Amino acid sequence: MADVKKLMNPWLDGLKPYFSPHIEKAWQDTNLIRMMSNEGPFPPQKKVLDALIEGSKIANRYPDSLTNIKEKIAELNGLDGPDWVVLGNGSTEVLDMTFRAFMQPGDELIQSLPCYGIYIQRANVIGAKTVSILAKDNWEYDIDAIENAITPKTKIIILANPNNPTGNLIEDSVYERLAKHDIVVIVDEAYIEYSGLKNSKLHLIKKYPNMIISRTLSKAYGLAGMRFGYMLGQPEIINIISRIILSWNISIMSAFGAYAAFNDQEGMQEKVRLTNEGRDYIESELSKIEGLTVYHTNGNYILIDASPTGATSEEIVDYIMEKHKIILRKQNPFKGRKGLFRITIGSKEENEKCVAAVKDFFESIKK
Ligand SMILES: Cc1ncc(COP(=O)(O)O)c(C=O)c1O
Repeated sequence: MADVKKLMNPWLDGLKPYFSPHIEKAWQDTNLIRMMSNEGPFPPQKKVLDALIEGSKIANRYPDSLTNIKEKIAELNGLDGPDWVVLGNGSTEVLDMTFRAFMQPGDELIQSLPCYGIYIQRANVIGAKTVSILAKDNWEYDIDAIENAITPKTKIIILANPNNPTGNLIEDSVYERLAKHDIVVIVDEAYIEYSGLKNSKLHLIKKYPNMIISRTLSKAYGLAGMRFGYMLGQPEIINIISRIILSWNISIMSAFGAYAAFNDQEGMQEKVRLTNEGRDYIESELSKIEGLTVYHTNGNYILIDASPTGATSEEIVDYIMEKHKIILRKQNPFKGRKGLFRITIGSKEENEKCVAAVKDFFESIKK
């Protein structure tokens, strides 16, 4: 009998299939309030729902290469045309395609911690090594340390703008310094719409052929379950990434939904407005609690450091889950700070419940 373990690519040894315990939990009990995965709380607009239904009516057909959507994306971003865009099943897929296009086993990816957890997971599956550099205490990327970590094996550096979970926007100079190296620089802009495209690094991808931007409909457009993302860059690098595309990676329903979503900018802007209102409310209410540092965000999530209170991330998140049925996100300890947790901004009602729950926790530990 063949030993499949011996047939397996050696770098898969020890890896596990992706599994998100909090998302599983939320689907098992739909009464729980989901404030843990940076989804949008609002259902899709009617225009998007109608388009999804239209798409499903022709689900017996394969989609084409979706040039109409790429043209629309190029237009929205002031880019020359569809050859500046590659589409994916969520931005995670366009990141994965880029990793596959530029890294082979043994190559290195540089990321800054804390950050989105899937970068390392996608690097692992192709046998690339992830080098993690700690952010500075104020969450700025430590650009000197990042540059020092570059080796001949470094192929990609990925830094989000704004970063998740810290919420801070990044200055051009960080990316410009890195783009001067012989490395692919990815700007993950999953959350850019919350602060507006004026903060995007679009002007830099026009200047640097090795810099690209990933985006998604999962956040401000509120379509995480539809799975649609895209990468922007100069035609040469986009052509290279496009060689990896899995045929028909975007379902015809998702293609129809995405086209409608891009054509309804007002619908997206309204969700952004409500989310930013929720952000202002949560930030101002939670800042009143002694011992908490609430970091101002440019995304739909808020990072809070409760370490000075002595409460740990687990204690806070577990209590709020058990007592208030709200799922928040624990964060790994960072330079000895054990009380970091993240709240995804929800609907007005969810935000009010969440603020009351967090206040209740910090009252309860005083007793
Ligand atoms: C920084 C960042 N990038 C990318 C993603 C992935 O989004 P998606 O694959 O749904 O487009 C997320 C999701 O949480 C994220 O936080």
